[in-house]
Amino acid sequence: MERSPLTDTPRLVVISNRVAVPKARGAAGAQGGLAGALHAALKDREGLWFGWSGEESESGRTGNIDTQTNDGVTTATIDLSQRDIEEYYNGYANSTLWPLFHYRLDLAKFERETGKGYERVNERFAELAAPLIENDDVVWVHDYHLIPLGERLRSRGLKNRIGFFLHIPWPATRLFVSLPYHERLVRTMLHYDLVGFQTKEWLDSFLHYCRTELGAEVDEDSGSVTLDGRTTLARAYPIGIDWDHFSKLGETGEARNAQQRMMASTRRRISMIGVDRLDYSKGIPERIDGIGRFFDREPERIRDLVFVQIAPPSREDVQSYQEIRETLEQKCGQINGARSEVDMVPIRYVNRGYSHEELFGFFRASKIGLVTPLRDGMNLVAKEYVAAQDPDDPGVLILSSFAGAALQLQDAVLVNPHSPDDIAHAIRKALDMPLDERKARYEKMVASVRDENVQAWTADFLRDLG
Ligand code: F6P
Repeated sequence: MERSPLTDTPRLVVISNRVAVPKARGAAGAQGGLAGALHAALKDREGLWFGWSGEESESGRTGNIDTQTNDGVTTATIDLSQRDIEEYYNGYANSTLWPLFHYRLDLAKFERETGKGYERVNERFAELAAPLIENDDVVWVHDYHLIPLGERLRSRGLKNRIGFFLHIPWPATRLFVSLPYHERLVRTMLHYDLVGFQTKEWLDSFLHYCRTELGAEVDEDSGSVTLDGRTTLARAYPIGIDWDHFSKLGETGEARNAQQRMMASTRRRISMIGVDRLDYSKGIPERIDGIGRFFDREPERIRDLVFVQIAPPSREDVQSYQEIRETLEQKCGQINGARSEVDMVPIRYVNRGYSHEELFGFFRASKIGLVTPLRDGMNLVAKEYVAAQDPDDPGVLILSSFAGAALQLQDAVLVNPHSPDDIAHAIRKALDMPLDERKARYEKMVASVRDENVQAWTADFLRDLG
């Protein structure tokens, strides 16, 4: 690819497991922040985005790469075979690393075969991506699917600046060491020039591991980790939303229609909303328990409220995801069965995604946003909810103190997502909050969402990598 004559900025090569946004899922926040953020990072500069197409076929094995340019972003994707998807994506990435990194050791499976599949697919990514990378490109690898990729690229002779960003939490050392071959995995991370985390908490856990388990020389102030004569920088870069894009959505007809649609259907009832991928880390059953507890305590307010939970299905071939879906259906069914009237249903549970525009309208129509993950690297739904509010009459964000976003959004009503009492209490507080307090909290939160946006995240990371 030719360099743009207007700029000396090196070309950016982004590599992530997921490239295309799954069409069926729509909603950006709900699909995970990664795809939307990387699209925003790439649309303003010369770059290439390499990864899995999301499709199953044998063609990736034969080196077949599909290259396309859409909306100013060039993507190069490969298909994965059924075995690769089973072992690498459903297996090691989403049945071992994901639960472990989200503190769910009880759900983590440790299978030798899936570990081998993970290494095999990382090797295939390296084999197919390396020829696309030119000498002065900057390479940015994303997320837990591709931890060893940097080391695999180095073994093919790449001397480029290579950075890695982890979009999910990094667990405490005593938990992380439950992973067989944990040392081997982390050693591969030290082949990157820069490793980024969402928050200082995850960064500190990583540095603690490197010092105590690997015996690396760690400088906490600069974030440098030195082992075997090689130094990697490790730092925190909280991801944000594409403020320019998101804040303009309110002007679209689609957003206005969605807002009207929600308001017309709820009439005089106050709506509360949750939008999450259907994932056990998001704390949705615990949230429903909290809402149930509120209804138990204040049954006279049920007629004034409606809770809308949008939860597009995710990773449906993984057993723990099938189980969480059943649990939720039961919980919503129980509360609705016990609390509905012929003309009123308290919980609307929706298993589909919506466009960014529609979500903006739903958020704006909802006086309370419930974002209560049990553990979350960042959580962009919280930031999108804030960005969508009417400055003259903003809603209240109820946010888990275990989401990375809680560090920046201290003016949300912070809750312990494991405690139904805490959630019930937060709902009451939000419902009774005077306008002045809602505005004061909103103004502080929106300033952070506006300024600590995805462009700032990209610029900070790439500055340090460069
Ligand atoms: O942000 C975490 C993450 O796992 C991303 O890597 C991913 O794209 C997103 O959530 C959605 O998950 P999946 O790609 O498995 O559908």
